[in-house]
Amino acid sequence: MSVAEVISVAEDLRPVLIAKGITKSFPGVLALDNVDFDVRAGEVTALLGENGAGKSTLIKMMAGFYAPDRGEITVDGVALSPDPSSAHRVGVATIHQDAHLVPAMSVAENIMLGRWPTRYGWLNKRLQKERAARALARVAPHLNPSTPAGRLSSADQQLVEIARAISEDSKVLIMDEPTTSLSPPEIDRLFNVVEDLKSKGMSIVFVSHWLEEVFRIADRVTVLRDGRLIGTRPISELDHDKVIRMMVGREVRDTILTKRPVGDVVLKVSKLTRENVLENISFEVRAGEIVGMAGLVGAGRSELAAAIFGIDPYDSGSVEIGGIAIPPNDPKAAIEAGVGLVPEDRRQQALVGLMSVKSNVTLSLLDRISRFGFLSMAKEQAIADREIRALAVKTPSSKTRVSTLSGGNQQKVVLARWLARKPKLLILDEPTKGIDVGAKSEISELILRLAEGGMAILLISSELPEILTLTDRVLVMRSGRISASLPKERATAETIMSFATTG
Ligand SMILES: Nc1ncnc2c1ncn2[C@@H]1O[C@H](COP(=O)(O)OP(=O)(O)OP(=O)(O)O)[C@@H](O)[C@H]1O
Ligand SMILES: [Mg+2]
Repeated sequence: MSVAEVISVAEDLRPVLIAKGITKSFPGVLALDNVDFDVRAGEVTALLGENGAGKSTLIKMMAGFYAPDRGEITVDGVALSPDPSSAHRVGVATIHQDAHLVPAMSVAENIMLGRWPTRYGWLNKRLQKERAARALARVAPHLNPSTPAGRLSSADQQLVEIARAISEDSKVLIMDEPTTSLSPPEIDRLFNVVEDLKSKGMSIVFVSHWLEEVFRIADRVTVLRDGRLIGTRPISELDHDKVIRMMVGREVRDTILTKRPVGDVVLKVSKLTRENVLENISFEVRAGEIVGMAGLVGAGRSELAAAIFGIDPYDSGSVEIGGIAIPPNDPKAAIEAGVGLVPEDRRQQALVGLMSVKSNVTLSLLDRISRFGFLSMAKEQAIADREIRALAVKTPSSKTRVSTLSGGNQQKVVLARWLARKPKLLILDEPTKGIDVGAKSEISELILRLAEGGMAILLISSELPEILTLTDRVLVMRSGRISASLPKERATAETIMSFATTG
């Protein structure tokens, strides 16, 4: 290597953003405790840690959303002041964990939101469309800029957010769990975009609970635990186990599948059909059985769950629980018949953000806790405390507003709610999405224990390892149909993927 090359490499790796001594507390929580963090030009830094470790808080600080109690953030030597427009000016673009597009606005409008190119105060629609189209072409060339964002799948919405971030010509792109609603090909596409941005000198910060992704894309890893910096290392010095040890501070056990007795049919779905969504779907799940539902994003798995649970209507066919047909499009009847659903889009569909953790846990139980119309406060408290402990939900108290919990802990609250109710059939839609490695293995154990207790479980998951380790049988969906029903012995990553894409 010549001297010039050495200098240029050193120059490339200079820190662009430096966060020094960052401390931030919320009522009852020290979210960040004297954390140092930096990102370098042309590098991908993965920010890792268990649920509630402080990742999103650090990101919100770099995005100018929160002011640190102590500490300072600079970008190329310029101090960041705590407001989003300052972050934007110094070149930090952020895709937040709970960001949403404006559903009624077009893709192009969402990309250009707040930064419409104006001339003499006029909104130049054509220029706006051109810029949006350029950003979109890099990330999601299959999307039409004039489609309303609300009509897009959650995977496509995420791509639009990424297009919005890159259209700003930012120096630092921060992504808080960007891959959670993407299918494998979409993740590939995102990572190609990331590689491309990186090669052009952009710094990228990325949070993911999937270590495979981290090892694919990251150059450096920074680990937080309980608000404290554990360390920053080049990825070349790490392996899977080392990262987990840094994150968790202990070994994580692999889940061991037990043999369970299988009982009577709990769920029987017959010829369920909904035009353009579900086509002639029939299958059964027995007591004590864990049936996996694999497929790509958009294959109709969540739509099937919504139809069984009565949130969505269907045109023909039937759903029976324990031999008794439940009426279509009637979630209350489904709940009474013993169906529980942990939906994929927790924040929008499942949690009441302004209510406490306790109320969110006991929400589905109100008819059982109340006697003669009175709500037994003591009983509600006891159930909430038990479930919060069982799932190790990290919250200052059961009275804390659920919207202030970290993403993964909100997810645990939704799970806790359904566990509290002990349904006959539990449908879990991507239950470990956004959940850290330690909690993932706890949730796997929990699913097994529920099945051992006789619950019928339908596990929708895009994570093949999760499907392969936990389930007794795998159904594969593609384009609204069941393309395969695979007994455990035949369910391999290859067969599942082939039926998911071409079966
Ligand atoms: N606005 C807020 N008000 C009160 N507490 C908060 C607020 N935001 C975050 N916290 C708390 O700060 C801690 C860190 O949360 P943060 O969202 O940064 O975690 P995280 O590492 O992103 O976790 P996850 O992987 O679950 O997304 C948590 O205990 C959380 O409950
Ligand atoms: Mg987070």
